[in-house]
Amino acid sequence: MRESCFLIHRLQKGQVLQIPVSVTMAQVQYDCSRGNHPNVSNSTASPVGHEQIQLLLNVCKEAKKSAYCPYSHFPVGAALLTCDGKIFSGCNVENACYPLGICAERTAIQKAVSEGYVNFRAMAIASNTEDDFIVPCGACRQVMREFSRDWDIYMTKPDGTYIVKTLQELLPLSFGPEDLKKF
Ligand code: THU
Repeated sequence: MRESCFLIHRLQKGQVLQIPVSVTMAQVQYDCSRGNHPNVSNSTASPVGHEQIQLLLNVCKEAKKSAYCPYSHFPVGAALLTCDGKIFSGCNVENACYPLGICAERTAIQKAVSEGYVNFRAMAIASNTEDDFIVPCGACRQVMREFSRDWDIYMTKPDGTYIVKTLQELLPLSFGPEDLKKF
């Protein structure tokens, strides 16, 4: 693709973000095994670029619009970045049989895994909560942990601000696939 190509990501009516194709999607390969993240204290994976973070923030906000939440009226959107630079979106999907509802984060992970992607670099999460950053529930943290402890979770507010933590920070002393091999 030519250098001058741009990916146009629509934000809201009339508002667009232009991101050079050279830094998006499959063009970005993250080394998920080493490196140093400038913003996340414990991350040892290679950094997620500014444009890619903005894209994740926009995709999770957009995904929130698809939330099926007639019971809680609490829409959530997620955007999952794979180590190959691919982004999977997700939203919460509730059910009349309440416990069967699934969070946005797990929707995104299941979409990715079902298409053959299991190496994850980052996830961004959006909700309508104005005053607090949306944080993943305990069940989602455990599902995230299945795939690595070393990836970054961007927790946002609707105004576009965010905080970022590694999964290790969100779920310390965790149980994972390696533990099953210890006995
Ligand atoms: N929810 C998510 O999708 N992600 C979170 O991080 C927190 C909660 C959903 C689950 C349920 O559909 C609704 O929000 C209210 O809990």
